[in-house]
Amino acid sequence: MIILGVSASLRNKRFSYKNKLVEDLNKINSLSELNNFVKDQIKVTFSDMEKLNDKKLSFEEKYKELKKHKGDRGLSNSETALVYALWQASKEDNIKTDYLSLSNIFENENSEKLNHFKKKFLSCDALLVSGPVYFGDRGSLTQRMIEFLNSDKDCMKHAKNILYAGLAVGAKRNGGQETTLIFQTLDFLNLGCKVIGNGHDTTAQYGGTLVAGDIGKLVDDDYGIKTALSTGKNLGEVLNKIDLKSEKDEKNSKDHRCNIFVLQDNKNQECTNIVESLVKNYKDKKVSFKIFKVFKEQVHKCIACDICPISYGDRKEYRCIINNKDDFFKKNHEEIINCDSFIFAAYSGTNFINIKTNYQQFIERTRYLRRDDYMIGDKLVTSLILSEVNSNRNLHIRILTSLMRHHNILTKPILVFKNANTYINIENIKKQFIDFFKTAVKVKKDKNKVNEYKPVGYEISLEKFLLKKKNKS
Ligand SMILES: Cc1cc2nc3c(=O)[nH]c(=O)nc-3n(C[C@H](O)[C@H](O)[C@H](O)COP(=O)(O)O)c2cc1C
Repeated sequence: MIILGVSASLRNKRFSYKNKLVEDLNKINSLSELNNFVKDQIKVTFSDMEKLNDKKLSFEEKYKELKKHKGDRGLSNSETALVYALWQASKEDNIKTDYLSLSNIFENENSEKLNHFKKKFLSCDALLVSGPVYFGDRGSLTQRMIEFLNSDKDCMKHAKNILYAGLAVGAKRNGGQETTLIFQTLDFLNLGCKVIGNGHDTTAQYGGTLVAGDIGKLVDDDYGIKTALSTGKNLGEVLNKIDLKSEKDEKNSKDHRCNIFVLQDNKNQECTNIVESLVKNYKDKKVSFKIFKVFKEQVHKCIACDICPISYGDRKEYRCIINNKDDFFKKNHEEIINCDSFIFAAYSGTNFINIKTNYQQFIERTRYLRRDDYMIGDKLVTSLILSEVNSNRNLHIRILTSLMRHHNILTKPILVFKNANTYINIENIKKQFIDFFKTAVKVKKDKNKVNEYKPVGYEISLEKFLLKKKNKS
């Protein structure tokens, strides 16, 4: 399996097609060796720049001079982030890595460069994009790549069979790294890619989030580097769980069970009706469904207790502190976790007249599942929204960002648009629903794999976590 890492900064130093970055990384065996490699490359970057400082050139002249280098040494911040993620990914089974600088493709485009990019893209099983944050969003090189991918039929076809993950580098903490990653996630989902974030070892967020302004600064951001390493590891691990190109389903896909949770609906239960009709018309008997009408249930709010989950043990045991006998999670815990894929569905109206909802309570109550070693993680998931035109509530985005925190594999949201009591795109939705399961049955089931949840920012939970580890050993 090949992961293609692309760096999307105009400050890239490794822009030559022939540079040996991947070969160099393959020779590195430990993280401390990698840190030394990065530091050496940054020294090279600085010495190239300092040599120019002696010449008293204007900034523009220096920029031109730097471009005259062969593009085979040094590292920009985005490249440094990518190096950490690619190196970590290459340590997973069956993973090979490849690298391309987007500055050499999209800065001054021509057909030869575009063909080179296309060839690399069509040979990859996963795309890892690292780029700077510009105004809380991507830079123009990433944007141009997305436009190109989205205008080339071969690339669009291939995109459906690959995984995507991202790394974002900003000069500031909270500079928009997460917004950049979330917006990119949406673009790559729209292209048909399956999307993942960083791994459970760095609390399952939206990918690598790194802080670095001046060139070379990234090496000081220990936590950011961890998120990059973890994104690479997650990409490698998930690639080993799902072969998107294969026509074959997973061995035991016959017993695939999908849970559909309808979290919000209107008086006529239109969202539920659509879900029921999609399920009824789904002919492949491999998949069984359970539809939960959550909007009709009692879902207690999360009280944000310090000890969530209340204990560790058998996963079948309900372990949230909320103990009301009519509470949805208390009543249905075993059924909720018994699934191989799941969908969160909701009706999105222009107002809340006649809308019944447990959306927010439901999402927040899944905390005990997440904190119990990502109990519903590692599955293919999506959202299914029946949206009145102009409702603009972005539920499809909110659901996906919450699901990424559960360590899941995201697919394109299923959005049904309703205008004056007509569902505008229902035929397309039927196809999308079927496509979801074509992919879902390919995800390997590994019931014994545990993604350890590490409490970050919670002292009491951390104490409990350390005690659990001590008792285990
Ligand atoms: C046009 C522009 C806009 C920027 N906007 C942001 C921003 O919104 N948030 C942020 O944290 N950094 C911002 N930065 C800083 C870059 O993201 C940061 O310097 C990053 O390290 C660049 O990565 P690179 O060295 O690989 O180019 C901006 C930089 C430029 C040039």
